[in-house]
Amino acid sequence: MANKRIDEATGTETVGHEWDGIEELDTPMPRWWLWTLYATMVWALIYAILYPAWPLIEKGTEGVLGWTSRGELARDMAAEGELKAPILAALAQVPIERLPEDSESMRAAIAGGRAAFKVNCVQCHGDGAAGFKGYPNLNDDDWLWGGDLKAIEQTLTHGIRQPGDDATHTSLMPAFGRDGIFTPQQIDQVAGHVLSFTGKARSTAEGAQLYADNCAACHGNAGEGNRLFGAPNLADAIWLYGGSRAEVEHQISHPRHGVMPSWQGRLDPVTIKMLAAYVHSLGGGEDFVQNAAAQASAQGAAPVAGQVQGEGPDAQP
Ligand code: HEC
Ligand code: HEC
Repeated sequence: MANKRIDEATGTETVGHEWDGIEELDTPMPRWWLWTLYATMVWALIYAILYPAWPLIEKGTEGVLGWTSRGELARDMAAEGELKAPILAALAQVPIERLPEDSESMRAAIAGGRAAFKVNCVQCHGDGAAGFKGYPNLNDDDWLWGGDLKAIEQTLTHGIRQPGDDATHTSLMPAFGRDGIFTPQQIDQVAGHVLSFTGKARSTAEGAQLYADNCAACHGNAGEGNRLFGAPNLADAIWLYGGSRAEVEHQISHPRHGVMPSWQGRLDPVTIKMLAAYVHSLGGGEDFVQNAAAQASAQGAAPVAGQVQGEGPDAQP
């Protein structure tokens, strides 16, 4: 760079290139800019010493502060846990049927239950708890096993037809077709009687008789259902397995015996209580006292001997 010289007009050195009489000035960086650059370098150096920074072959440099994002998460979770601990402890004390008396606990329980529902229940009952075929809608007031807080807590704690849980809800609708109890013609006749409850078919004398002898003990004389046996109401527009003639005949011939997991081994009692409060809050929740009376009157209907394998929720602790 032999042609470097001081530019007279600005007093700044040139870089030495010249093209057709045009030269380039070698203007130095402004001070403030340089100092900012040095400051960022110093900052980066200090940061790299204090915090995890350089990737190595196995893992990265750890930094002298010992900070990790995992550790920070654990600290945040612990702090959150400490915040919630008094609420959870209070919830553990209240028997579930008294929860509605304390609106603040009830609100906390519903919020906790909503979060737990997203983790544990949506895969079967759907995001909005509206259910799918075979997985009941939890928003409506149509309950298979009972819709007061205590009944829901019981259903969640012990599940439905959950093998290995002594207190689980169990009742099995006989497989009238698969086990050869009915001929195809009889299935057709009794399906007609079932559909007559909702006005979708006409009942026959044979169908009515078959129903009275084989179904009424669980489903009720007028198809109103019975929660002691988890037997659905057949006279409303809500169907667990579908209300077309083919679907009803399929259920009579091959009942599904749906299984709902028992949650007592997987979730702690307070979480189960919160889930019950959440499900109860979805729209169909029933009053505890009212329902106890309804269940007492429902007990009048005796199950078919040998066909009902459980004793219903009332017999359970
Ligand atoms: C593996 C699928 C599955 C999961 C997961 C599941 N359920 Fe269920 N649930 C069912 C089935 C199937 C039934 C209906 C069983 C029957 O036919 O009686 C049911 C029934 C219920 C009932 C009874 C409804 C009534 O009408 O009496 C409640 C309440 C309920 N589930 C709540 C929950 C909650 C809360 C969770 C999450 C903790 C959950 N379920 C997770 C499958 C599941
Ligand atoms: C031991 C009690 C019991 C008896 C007896 C019984 N059921 Fe059921 N029924 C149930 C239960 C429990 C369910 C729930 C679904 C399941 O477990 O498969 C059900 C479900 C049904 C359904 C499906 C309802 C829906 O919402 O999709 C129909 C239809 C039905 N039963 C018809 C009958 C008919 C017809 C008879 C007589 C021929 C009969 N059941 C006898 C217990 C019984």
